Amino acid sequence: MRATEHDVVFEAVEEDAKMTKKIKFGVCGIGRIGIQHCQFFSQDRDRYELTALCDLDPARVEAAQAEFGGRGYTDFAEFLADPELELAIIATRSLDHARNAEQALAAGKTVLLEKPIGVTAEDYRILQRLVGTHPGQLFFGHNHRFEPAFRNTQAILAQGLLGNVHVIKLCKHHPFMRRNDWQMRLDCGGGQLSVWGPHLLDQGLQLLGAPVREVRSDLRRILTPGDADDHVHITLVGENDVVAELEISNAVALPGPYCTLYGDRGALRYDQDQKTIHLKYLDPNFQWPEASAQAETPALSQGMCAERELPWIEETRQVMPATSLWHQVEIEMVRHLFNALRQNIPFPVKSAEALEVVRITEIVKRQNPQFQWVG
Ligand SMILES: NC(=O)c1ccc[n+]([C@@H]2O[C@H](COP(=O)([O-])OP(=O)(O)OC[C@H]3O[C@@H](n4cnc5c(N)ncnc54)[C@H](O)[C@@H]3O)[C@@H](O)[C@H]2O)c1
Repeated sequence: MRATEHDVVFEAVEEDAKMTKKIKFGVCGIGRIGIQHCQFFSQDRDRYELTALCDLDPARVEAAQAEFGGRGYTDFAEFLADPELELAIIATRSLDHARNAEQALAAGKTVLLEKPIGVTAEDYRILQRLVGTHPGQLFFGHNHRFEPAFRNTQAILAQGLLGNVHVIKLCKHHPFMRRNDWQMRLDCGGGQLSVWGPHLLDQGLQLLGAPVREVRSDLRRILTPGDADDHVHITLVGENDVVAELEISNAVALPGPYCTLYGDRGALRYDQDQKTIHLKYLDPNFQWPEASAQAETPALSQGMCAERELPWIEETRQVMPATSLWHQVEIEMVRHLFNALRQNIPFPVKSAEALEVVRITEIVKRQNPQFQWVG
């Protein structure tokens, strides 16, 4: 049968409605981060509608319902059976993530999974399988990919101001934090490798820009009353020979910069507060003149460098947008997820990238058998 003009217009309107239809979402695990998801996704009223809330603790469900609305559940299976629920945001404890995602996908939901997306080798296998069986339905919440300072840094690198980067240092330093919650117990899937590890690994891999050739690591327990790692040092070497040093520590009385990059035309640095980026780079018009190293002992009055002075440009840039990074990472997740689900714009955190974080985490765990890892 030939489509009439009316059919074509109708289909276009239907397609338009599908593209803009609100995403009915629910949050499971209404803790520190779950409540943030409730807030930031609900705030985007034109694109999202909170439909369901779930937590083992009925008081948390009631409090969140009073603030955000939606139906309340204390049982995950019942939450997943909510017929209106399209997007299930999983913000339960780390050890449950992979299995919760599996259950939610089996119930036909789209899933946004909190980090760490997997904690055990078995989780890694589950996630690998789910990515294959549910394309376009499972999204990984590596939200710190969207830190404004990190995005600004990526833009600076794309401009080529630093030349070729050979060293990346990312440090999340907490000045003497004697953390004592479940996140510092290995039997609960805690430890900084799981807490901040996914964020720094994700950023480090993005900056590295090549497959990882080598992983070296050293994990310690310095201050926490728990049995988990609270000081993490990981070195990644890329197939491009770039080195990324990642450090997460609860035991640095004098925190160092969050990010430092060395390139062959300059360097970049920003502090833990991530408000400004300090740059020092060679004038983009400058070309190195030909030079060679001499075997003779130089005269005492003579320097050791081919150039006496270099045309440095030094600047401090305000990180943009100049908002709270904690809010911005949520706002960006909300926006990108809608684009992925309704506009077919690929979600910036690709599944293979998120799985690579888990693969490296497993290597780090094997390199640090002094810890009693679960699973
Ligand atoms: N992406 C980020 O920036 C970020 C920030 C903080 C936490 N996280 C991650 O989010 C997860 C949660 O962290 P948190 O600090 O919010 O923890 P939390 O302990 O504050 O909250 C977890 C909540 O999940 C509930 N819960 C546990 N099992 C459940 C189940 N089976 N069904 C329903 N509810 C259940 C608990 O009752 C609790 O309210 C962790 O894996 C953590 O690593 C991510």
